[in-house]
Amino acid sequence: MGDRNAEMRSAIAQDWLDAPYYKDAEGWLDTFWAPGSAFLPMFRQLDLTRVIELACGRGRHAERILDEAGEITLVDLVARNIELCRERFSARENVRYVVNSGNDLPGCEDGGYSAVFCYDAMVHFELLDVISYLRETRRVLRPGGRALLHVSNNMQNPGGFYHQNTHWRNFGSLAVFLHVADRLGLACLEQQVVDWPEAPKLDGVMLLERRPD
Ligand SMILES: C[S@@+](CC[C@H](N)C(=O)[O-])C[C@H]1O[C@@H](n2cnc3c(N)ncnc32)[C@H](O)[C@@H]1O
Repeated sequence: MGDRNAEMRSAIAQDWLDAPYYKDAEGWLDTFWAPGSAFLPMFRQLDLTRVIELACGRGRHAERILDEAGEITLVDLVARNIELCRERFSARENVRYVVNSGNDLPGCEDGGYSAVFCYDAMVHFELLDVISYLRETRRVLRPGGRALLHVSNNMQNPGGFYHQNTHWRNFGSLAVFLHVADRLGLACLEQQVVDWPEAPKLDGVMLLERRPD
C-alpha cells in the first residue's frame, strides 16, 4: 500500500516549483505587514533572536525582517526556492538555508530557537504534515519560544485534493490544530479566524508558546 499522504505532499510540491505566484505575491504583502493586518500584532510578539521561517518561498517575508532578526533560518521543500533565497540574500551573513522533506525541520537543534513562523503556506499542506510541523516546532523552540502559524480552517471536502477547494485551502481546522498544539506542549496565546471577502472563516492564525519542560 502506498503512502497517500506522501503522494499528496509531492503533488502539492509540484505546484510550487515555479509558479507565477512568487512574482505576483511580491506585490501583495499588506495582508501580513500593513498596519491593521491581523497578523502583524501577533508577529510583533515574536522574539527574532533566532527565528525559523517555514516554507519561505522566495523570501518576500524574510526580506522584511532581516534587519531586525538575529539569525534567520529559511526552510522550504522546494530546493529551487532555497537556491533563489541564497542569491537574494547573498550579502547577508545572518541567514541559514534548509531544504526539508515536507514535514520536518532538519538541522534545527532541539530547543535552539526563539521563534518559528509560517505565512501563506501551511494553508495548503496536508493535515498530517501540519501536525508533524507542530511536533517539530515544539522540538526546536526553547521554553517560552513562540510560533506564529497561518493555517487552513477549511473543513469542506475531507479526503479531497486541495485544488478542489476555495483558494486551494487544504482540509484543516484551526480548532483541531489548537487542540493538537496544546497536547504537544504548545499553549495558545492568541488565535484568530481570518475571513476572505467571498469565503468567511477560511483561514486561521495562531500564536503559540512552548511551555516550560
Ligand atoms: C504559496 S507558497 C508561500 C511561500 C511564502 N510563505 C510566501 O508567503 O511567499 C507555498 C510554499 O510552501 C512550500 N511548500 C509546499 N509544500 C511544502 C511542505 N510540505 N513543506 C514545506 N514547504 C512546502 C512551497 O515550496 C512554497 O514555497
